[in-house]
Amino acid sequence: MIQETDLNYFRNWFDMYVKQFCTGNERIDSAICLKVKHTKNVVREILDIADTVNLDAETRSLAEIVALFHDIGRFKQYIKYGTYSDQKSEDHAKIGLDVIAHTGVFSRLPTYKQELIRNVIANHNRMSLPHSNDQKFLLLLKLLRDAVESHAIFT
Ligand SMILES: [Fe+2]
Repeated sequence: MIQETDLNYFRNWFDMYVKQFCTGNERIDSAICLKVKHTKNVVREILDIADTVNLDAETRSLAEIVALFHDIGRFKQYIKYGTYSDQKSEDHAKIGLDVIAHTGVFSRLPTYKQELIRNVIANHNRMSLPHSNDQKFLLLLKLLRDAVESHAIFT
């Protein structure tokens, strides 16, 4: 069961992680800030949806985590390529999975939950929903895509 202490850990981790990308360069910092705001908006939105449909506490926690980390690859992408265009750089979901693997941020979660979160992130920016028999995965992916769509500047 994901506890409030776990959620606080992830929220703090995110805030600490993004800080390193604030360089003092106005152009870069405003681009990074934009994506931080986008993430926080998506988190708020997904929790709104979760409460509207009365999601159970565990799924609500997973929803918050996928929202918080879905664009974690954006920061490296911008610093490395100077763009948020996946076409001009690389898939930001894939960069995010690399960040997650290298930092081990999800190591406090059981393996199957880590895998579930990674799969949702990997698929959040695909053109269409993948085929799957995993109802929890599909639910989280749909929630995330709906929450992102409500704040679609760059997904
Ligand atoms: Fe995204």
